[in-house]
Amino acid sequence: MLMAVCNYQKVSLTEDENGQFSIQEASLSSKSQRSFQHGPSWMGCFLLCAATGIISLLVGSVIGPWFGQDLKRLCFEMHSTYSPAIAEIDTSYHDVRFNGSIILDSPFRGELREELNEAWQELEGFRVTMITEEEYAAIPYDIETTKVPEEAGGGYMGSLEVIHHLHCLNFMRKSSIWNHEYYKNRSAEFTDSDRTTHHHFDHCADMLRQKLMCDADVTIIPYRWVKGHADPYPNFNTLHSCRNFDSIREWSVRRQIPDLPSRYALHPLPGEKIWDSPP
Ligand SMILES: *[C@@H]1O[C@H](CO)[C@@H](O)[C@H](O)[C@H]1NC(C)=O
Ligand SMILES: *[C@@H]1O[C@H](CO)[C@@H](O)[C@H](O)[C@H]1NC(C)=O
Repeated sequence: MLMAVCNYQKVSLTEDENGQFSIQEASLSSKSQRSFQHGPSWMGCFLLCAATGIISLLVGSVIGPWFGQDLKRLCFEMHSTYSPAIAEIDTSYHDVRFNGSIILDSPFRGELREELNEAWQELEGFRVTMITEEEYAAIPYDIETTKVPEEAGGGYMGSLEVIHHLHCLNFMRKSSIWNHEYYKNRSAEFTDSDRTTHHHFDHCADMLRQKLMCDADVTIIPYRWVKGHADPYPNFNTLHSCRNFDSIREWSVRRQIPDLPSRYALHPLPGEKIWDSPP
């Protein structure tokens, strides 16, 4: 449309007797003079372009940030099944460079010690999350979950998967041949029978397998030559677009069911279904 209004004239070329092309300057200048007197002018074009620019800028500055926020939420929702947490957490994404070196000082690695135990425990060490009646009703498929008795806060039980996945990873870490001796009488998981503990471990490995395949991270891992290494060495310090885990953890902690005197404070309510076997 702008092109039509601005009435851009292609400069015409003519062939002279020698077969050379030259610009028809006379016809060009007379045409542009004419267009100043009649019809769409360059001044008109300039004003229209300026007006369009200013309007775009005004509209953009108003709906741009709103649209940006909305897009972030939309991206988050597209990569999630329905969760009441989405409405209450920071749904933005942040560039994060992973700490991937094979040898690295980190609170999550190295010698078994209190600092390391706490760093891992902080990721998963809180009670089951509850969701409200309204949030439960809004879930667009039936999750068939247990009611929390009024005296324990009411609502329904419903934890976030990420917390369970971190629990699984931590349990597998504790189970490793390097760590089992240390954790076997420090961690409640190891009070189960050996058979149950083995099932627990396999369940965790298989859950994390499914999660990693579901997310299927396509980040490129680069390689570089390193002195003393026969093969190119992978650089695991890769860049990722990450959700705000702190915000999600904070939501889970805030939604814990109260610290009950015993697990028997939770009991089936009248009319609640009792299943024959675990799902
Ligand atoms: C990497 O390690 C540094 C230093 O311990 C820490 O501040 C940063 O949060 C770590 N990054 C990730 C993605 O864990
Ligand atoms: C774990 O067992 C070891 C002996 O195997 C013992 O020295 C240690 O005190 C125990 N720790 C706890 C927390 O019970």
